[in-house]
Amino acid sequence: MAKLIGGITTSHIPAVGNAINNGLTQTPYWKRFFDGYKPAHQWLEDNPADIVIVVYNDHGLNFFLDKVPTFALGCAAEYFNEDEGWGLPPRPPFPGDAEFSWHLAESLVAQEFDICTCQEMKVDHGFVNPIRVLFGDQEQYSQKFIPLAVNTVQHPVPSAKRCLDLGVALGRAIESYPEDVRVTILGTGGMSHQLQGERAGFIDVDFDLECMDKIASEPEWFTQFSNAEIMARSGSEGIETIMWLVMRGALRADAEIVHKHYHAPISNTGAGVLVLDNQ
Ligand code: DHB
Ligand code: FE
Repeated sequence: MAKLIGGITTSHIPAVGNAINNGLTQTPYWKRFFDGYKPAHQWLEDNPADIVIVVYNDHGLNFFLDKVPTFALGCAAEYFNEDEGWGLPPRPPFPGDAEFSWHLAESLVAQEFDICTCQEMKVDHGFVNPIRVLFGDQEQYSQKFIPLAVNTVQHPVPSAKRCLDLGVALGRAIESYPEDVRVTILGTGGMSHQLQGERAGFIDVDFDLECMDKIASEPEWFTQFSNAEIMARSGSEGIETIMWLVMRGALRADAEIVHKHYHAPISNTGAGVLVLDNQ
């Protein structure tokens, strides 16, 4: 049977792609941010996965504002990236595993999570940069990647509780797959940030640190907040942190905290790395 071996949270900011492409990762601005991933790299090396589920939000590349599914699962054999600015060339296509995706879709719908299934899905920085920062740029990845998009862009967006519940259902879906594959799940985005309006640049370090602790050890704590409260505390785009709950819900309650790192500001965000071992 499939095994969910761990979960990792990570920033997905577009500037990460620019830093990697232009050799800036060891500059004073970026060094501490990128160094925060070293223990995650070690854990990934010690605990290789066959399949990596990337929980992220699309920012307008695949879904524009006229049609926005709340939850959308990639069910394709590969996923294409497109240009998003910074003058960066798109990354080569990422390999998927359509058979595994369809198993997840069947199981999630059977558990009453009626997700949108996508046999074509373009992936933006929310998906690409977590893979780049955790797995590096590779000609041929040994892992397969599964995009799971959560709407955090066009309101109404799902509640933190709905995301945690989706994670629980996803954990069951993963571990009911009959093949002996090892699976890791990523929760991307966050933490506090606001990209527009009067509070553009808003970051709350204390709230971010509390969220990191609680999401690791007591994720139900985060579900006390309405989406309006999350945005009041952590900025309009701080709502992206609800995606961490999907990752967390998929893991066991007693998953072991292997690594925790926070850095702010980086671009316009507070950035948190959590590595949770589910074995
Ligand atoms: C930034 C953060 C995001 O989550 C995003 O999608 C785009 C930009 C930023 O901090 O610059
Ligand atoms: Fe984002």
